[in-house]
Amino acid sequence: MHLWHASLARCAAHEQALRALLSPDERARADRFHFARDRTRFVAGRGLLRRVLGQALDRSPDGFCFGEGPHGKPLLAAVDAVPPLAFNVSHAHELVVVAVATGRQVGVDIEWMRRPVDVDAIACRFFAPGERAAVLGASDADRRETFFACWTRKEAYLKARGHGLTYPLDRFEVTLGRAAAPAVAWCCDEPHETSRWSMRELRPAADYLGAIVVEGRNWRLDSRWAELPA
Ligand SMILES: CC(C)(COP(=O)(O)OP(=O)(O)OC[C@H]1O[C@@H](n2cnc3c(N)ncnc32)[C@H](O)[C@@H]1OP(=O)(O)O)[C@@H](O)C(=O)NCCC(=O)NCCS
Repeated sequence: MHLWHASLARCAAHEQALRALLSPDERARADRFHFARDRTRFVAGRGLLRRVLGQALDRSPDGFCFGEGPHGKPLLAAVDAVPPLAFNVSHAHELVVVAVATGRQVGVDIEWMRRPVDVDAIACRFFAPGERAAVLGASDADRRETFFACWTRKEAYLKARGHGLTYPLDRFEVTLGRAAAPAVAWCCDEPHETSRWSMRELRPAADYLGAIVVEGRNWRLDSRWAELPA
């Protein structure tokens, strides 16, 4: 299991080189963003993804074709997916991460914990009962971290499954707190889901929290900062 990180500032400094790796469709999508920062974030994610896949498969990064799963999860088109590589991308504030796995699904999510959000309101409205209790019961010092641990574990799980936010957030629960390892605690109507996935917390930089969710067990995480073109 490989995880690459890059700072958005470094990607912005290399935006032209990263953009040159994108397909015409991706470039057109990049140009439709209203804010330069959103454009840079998209170009960084796709450009970095293409470089990482190119290195993994010893192929030219600009030659890959991406398709989409039923709920929009980007995936390699069948012709490019030999060996069967799965990947997932997440962006937050000043960071981009790309996770790549062979022969198993993967989902990743990172968040910047200084992001202004009403953690109590979101927990009450969207989280499952145990998650809500964990957030509301946390001390002031721990509350944001508990919230973002929950958020990123839930989102990484939904991204691994390819559902995005089409799956109701209160129909499954993730473990929280120091006493339990990160995991899917239960999933309504789909009890086998708890043993299908494994989960790890990510702390890519100060003030960032994240999670990676991978199909099956017995994997090792190789995490590194991406080298960008000169
Ligand atoms: C995909 C989704 C779940 C994540 O979006 P996000 O948190 O805004 O952004 P991230 O940077 O973590 O992930 C975006 C990337 O996920 C990938 N993605 C898109 N749809 C996806 C899906 N259905 N499944 C998995 N990955 C998906 C894409 O690579 C996308 O990057 P790109 O648009 O540059 O290609 C999106 O559906 C969404 O709208 N999220 C809103 C966030 C939220 O409310 N989360 C609550 C968690 S409690």
